[in-house]
Amino acid sequence: MAERVAIVLAAGISNRMNTLLSKVLHEVCGRPMLAYVLDACRQVGVEKIYVVVGFSADQVKHRFKDAEDIVWVQQDEQRGTAHAVLCCKEHLMDFEGQTLILCGDGPLIRAQTLRTLIEKHKTEQSAATLATAVLDDPSGYGRIIRDAYGNIQGIIEDTECTSEQLGIREINPSYYLFNNKVLFEALEKVKPDNVKKEYYLTDALSVIITTGHKVVAVTAVPAEEAVGINSRAQLSQASKIMQRRIQQQLMENGVTIVDPDNTWIDVRAQIGQDTVIEPFTYIHGQVKIGQGCRIGPFAYLRHGTVLKNDVVLGVYTEVKNSTLADGVRVRHHSYIGDATVGRNVNIGAGSITANFDGEKVNRTDIGDDCYIGSGAVLIAPLELKDGSNISAGTVISQEKIDKLGEDTK
Ligand code: UD1
Ligand code: CA
Repeated sequence: MAERVAIVLAAGISNRMNTLLSKVLHEVCGRPMLAYVLDACRQVGVEKIYVVVGFSADQVKHRFKDAEDIVWVQQDEQRGTAHAVLCCKEHLMDFEGQTLILCGDGPLIRAQTLRTLIEKHKTEQSAATLATAVLDDPSGYGRIIRDAYGNIQGIIEDTECTSEQLGIREINPSYYLFNNKVLFEALEKVKPDNVKKEYYLTDALSVIITTGHKVVAVTAVPAEEAVGINSRAQLSQASKIMQRRIQQQLMENGVTIVDPDNTWIDVRAQIGQDTVIEPFTYIHGQVKIGQGCRIGPFAYLRHGTVLKNDVVLGVYTEVKNSTLADGVRVRHHSYIGDATVGRNVNIGAGSITANFDGEKVNRTDIGDDCYIGSGAVLIAPLELKDGSNISAGTVISQEKIDKLGEDTK
């Protein structure tokens, strides 16, 4: 067995989200929040991830059915985070290595933080190590209790804090690394002696400390990375933070984002060097944009869009599931759906592909160097040869094109 495994807790009902969907399936910038947590584990070399599911378990399993490194663990009744971890007992009780524990509702976790945690665990030779954050507003989170020497004594949940403890700004983001054997021994001793009558994983740390093992808390989590998602408000807050990260990375890669506050880019999008994204552009889904493109303002790019280099998309242009070759220009008020557009094609204002016939979606294939005048309706399925010229206001179908071909014979 690998020397380090991970447990991700994702069984909770999430009353505070007021949702029928499992909380961990709610999306942050285009991906379910659980996906980010799993990726962080993978980035630090974890090869086996035990994901504890309960509420809406089938939805979660289905969404991640292709992940071969996941072992699904069922928690039928949600009796707290310690109880959730104990559900992994049959898989892990004999495991001699280290166990990383994270929550599925903490998508802002970074691999770098986990590396720090792993490093500290090693240098300190601790039985358990946790990473903490210091927040201006710690409300809702478990507070870190330290003694006069700075050693951690335990974690007190928000609901259990005295008014004095409520003032502690160092919190538990739920990023832990345990020596597995010590963890499972401690879990057996956790009691549900609290307001919620739940088994708290945070109490396992107190047990570990009182049984004489070394527990280390390292303040290694930037405040923005500690946001756990319990409510829709926190979901929007985390999405904002994630959006900033995505844009930061793109800008480092050489993309100009004129107004980051008024631009939204999916985490799955790829954008090439020297492309300029103008304000109010919305990029959703798997979208690939080449180099030197100019997108927006007010452009809407949807799943399956591929723009090669030097493409210009202007105001109120929507593109879905289409590939636009080098130098294509679609400057104003157009819809391009399920199309292939050849090199240097110009699509005039207000032209659209009519891709849906009421029953199915059809493709449009536009050759190189075509000129489509303003206000054209291209009724799919349709194929326009290289160099075709469609005059303004034309409603064109394959039938008409074939007929034109016949007439000119
Ligand atoms: C938990 C921590 C708190 C920490 C906060 C960080 C405990 C007791 N408290 O509180 O110290 O500051 O996270 O965000 O651990 N879950 C299960 N089964 C259960 C209960 C929960 O799988 O029976 C899962 C949830 O789906 C969730 C995670 O565990 O993904 C954390 O549970 P949640 O109820 O959100 O705990 P918090 O109150 O946020
Ligand atoms: Ca939470």
